[in-house]
Amino acid sequence: MTTLIYKSTMAPDFTHNQIRSMLYHARHFNEINEVSGCIFYGNSQFLQMIEGEQHTISDLYGRIQEDNRHHSVELLFHEETPKRLFKEWNMIFFNVKLFEDFKSEDENFMKSVLVDRFKEEPEIPSIQVLRAHVNSLKENPETNFI
Ligand SMILES: Cc1cc2nc3c(=O)[nH]c(=O)nc-3n(C[C@H](O)[C@H](O)[C@H](O)COP(=O)(O)O)c2cc1C
Repeated sequence: MTTLIYKSTMAPDFTHNQIRSMLYHARHFNEINEVSGCIFYGNSQFLQMIEGEQHTISDLYGRIQEDNRHHSVELLFHEETPKRLFKEWNMIFFNVKLFEDFKSEDENFMKSVLVDRFKEEPEIPSIQVLRAHVNSLKENPETNFI
């Protein structure tokens, strides 16, 4: 099992509808190829974790890096990991901006996904990396989500 996390900046002409369509295709590929993970979007940035078999993740990351719908792809974490953390999700999507606007149930859901589920094992390195970067996707980083 390999886990990879990166951050990137969305291309200016990539619309919300196109994000939705990208996700639809990505989830289809991920389901067939046993890739799971999560993706956060906010402040024109993506923060994504993908987990799966080593060669599947390397190939997928290669294609993601080449994708011109985003740029400045920065690798944050790439390690062999003992278990899959997001096995329920082929790619769960969180729009960080929505949390700012509405203080919505989504924010609670994100907390339950990123914090509550890992209360028993708070030192999981990949989760720490996600938590450390998710707040930087906010336009106003003074208040922390998690
Ligand atoms: C932010 C972002 C995240 C993506 N995540 C995935 C993903 O999880 N799974 C996937 O198959 N494609 C994902 N893609 C799409 C890939 O970059 C690529 O378009 C897809 O693998 C098809 O590649 P191909 O056109 O070279 O065949 C993502 C693209 C972007 C911009």
